[in-house]
Formats: sequence, C-alpha cells, structure tokens
Amino acid sequence: MRDALIEKAASFLKEGLLVSFPTETVYGLGADASNETAIRRLYQAKGRPSTHPVIVHVHSLDAVRNWAVDIPPEFFKLAESFWPGPLTMVLKRANSVLNAVTGGQDTVALRIPKHPIALALLEAFGGGLVAPSANKFGRLSPTLAQHVIDEFKDEVAMVLDGGPCNVGIESTIINLSGGRPRILRPGMISVDMLSSVIGDVEAPANSVTHATNAKNALAQVVATDTASDTGSDIRVPGALASHYAPETPLHVVPSHDFYSFLEECAKNNRRVLVVSFKPQHSGFEPSSWITLAQEPEEFARQIYGALRLLDKRNGDLIVVESPPDKDTGWSGIHDRLSRAAFRE
Ligand code: TXA
Ligand code: MG
Repeated sequence: MRDALIEKAASFLKEGLLVSFPTETVYGLGADASNETAIRRLYQAKGRPSTHPVIVHVHSLDAVRNWAVDIPPEFFKLAESFWPGPLTMVLKRANSVLNAVTGGQDTVALRIPKHPIALALLEAFGGGLVAPSANKFGRLSPTLAQHVIDEFKDEVAMVLDGGPCNVGIESTIINLSGGRPRILRPGMISVDMLSSVIGDVEAPANSVTHATNAKNALAQVVATDTASDTGSDIRVPGALASHYAPETPLHVVPSHDFYSFLEECAKNNRRVLVVSFKPQHSGFEPSSWITLAQEPEEFARQIYGALRLLDKRNGDLIVVESPPDKDTGWSGIHDRLSRAAFRE
C-alpha cells in the first residue's frame, strides 16, 4: 500500500495530525514522536494521563540510535530474532527524546512492527511514530479498523484499514535499560522464547487470574448493581486505571467451575454472555456464546473482538472460561483477562 493513501497519511502526520494504522498486534493511534503538539493531541484524544509513556515505532534498526543510548548486546540479539514483530524493548533514552514520549522517565520504549501498512507508513513518514493502542484510555484495544472508527470518529485525520490484526493482543515489553532483563508486559512472545535467545529473563509477577468461585463472583455482580442503584459510580469497571476492559463486568471462571457458575447465574436471572472453549450450551442464544480456539495464538487473535461483540449485547456479565495456566504461551492472554476482569 505504498500508494496515495500512505502518502496522504504520512503528510497528515507531518502536519501534527493523528492517523490510526494497523500493526500485527493491535491498531495504533499514530502521531509524530518528535512533535510535542501532536503528542498532546494524541493524549487528549485517548483521554490518557500525560505521565504515561508511549512506544516509539521505527522503520529500521538504524533508527534506534536516534532514540536510545547505551544499547546492550541483548537488544541486538532480540532484534535479530523478533523484529519486525510483537516485541517492544525499553532502553536508555537519548537526550533529544521528548519528555512527552517517555513520561519524563530516563528510558524509551521502541518497536519495529511487522505489518506491511505500518512499515510502509513509517518509511513514507521517515521518522518515529508514537502509537498507543487506538482505544480510549482503559478500554479494549482495537483489532479491526471499524473498532477505531467506532471509538474515535472525527478525532483522527485518517484510519488505514489493514483488516484484522494477526496477533490480536499488545506486544510483549521487555526492559533492557539496566539490570536483569525484565518483562514489563507479557505478550505472545513468551518468556521462554526470550530466554532461549538471551538467557536469563525475569518473568512478570504471576498474573494468572484466580477466578473467585461461582457464588462469590455472582455475589460481586449483585453487589455492583446495588452500588449503582445507590448512585455510586466508583465500582464501574473501566473507570479504574489500566483495565483493558469491556463495559460489562467480566469474570474469568475456571473450566471445572464453569457450568455450575452458569447455572448459578441462571438461578439468579442474570443475563450472561459467554466466551468459552466449549460449544454453545443449550439455553443460550448464538449471539451470547462465543467459542474460541484452544490454541493461544488463535485465542489471542479473537479475544478482543469477541469481548467487543458481547459488550454490545446488554448483558449483566461476561464470563470467560479460564485458559490453561501452565504453558507460558498463555501468559499474555491471562494478563489481559485479569486486567479486564471486574474487581471490587
Ligand atoms: O502492541 C503494541 O505495543 C501496541 C501497538 C499499537 O504497537 N501499542 C501499545 O501501546 O500497546 P500502549 O501505549 O497502549 O502501551 C504502551 C505500554 C504502556 O503500558 C506503557 O506504560 C509502556 O508501554 N511503556 C512505554 N514507554 C515505556 C518506558 N519508557 N518504560 C516502561 N514502559 C513503557
Ligand atoms: Mg493500550
């Protein structure tokens, strides 16, 4: 797509406007990483606090030296194995990097995305692009152009449509700015994949969701309804920072508890929406039950879109069957589900 649309998108970006573009992970909301006004516009559109750092997307390895200093050997090994790809590396920042990019920290996050449209855009633009996921702060990341259009309408100059994202959840982030390499955000490039290239890697704190048992989870939902009835909005999921959350309360329930949980909900007349590995259960409409694949790659590709669809159905709660927790291939997915899950 190195064509008129890409050229137009690049010229909007040079003017300081926002352009959404597809990456292999999720759609990004792009702005010129060296234009403070553009970045301010971006934060405003997302409704994101300005102290949160953003990832700089670059076209090639050579460009990294414009953004980072004291680059360790692990960086080059990982770049060789995983770039372009769904891996973001945090390095010591170069002096010239704007505080608006780093959130005032002394590090900068960098990534070469693996998507032909993203790469063509970066090449035509010729510089670095900051691109947080193109969703409002705290909401689910978009994996289709339509998701971005639904959320941003007139706030972006252009949305480049690259079809569905192939990875489906955000990149793995690893900190290489000093000390032991450490995963800051798990993703589809797992700790095992990283350590097979550079040896020792510190995994994130265990983020597997320990779902409450059926009765407790249901009690939480009932309690929330009561809370909103009395005018308190403090428990509205998604109003809390760092949730990648649908508006409907979401619960992750272990496989062995799954049917008893659904029965408990039915007894309480709760309208439940389901994401499961199991086929649609009798008593559920097709539109309220989504069966996903047992493979983490396919599950990741579909989960955000599935949650967005269910979120439109006006249910009382979304119930997700917990994926296996032994295999590190699922850890990015567990992380996102636990962030999306409703908490008191
Ligand atoms: O897959 C992705 O990474 C997508 C696509 C569009 O590239 N982008 C994305 O960006 O997920 P965003 O802004 O939604 O998430 C960026 C994450 C945040 O959690 C932020 O805290 C972290 O990167 N981050 C950015 N700069 C950092 C830094 N210097 N040190 C530590 N974390 C940083
Ligand atoms: Mg995001």
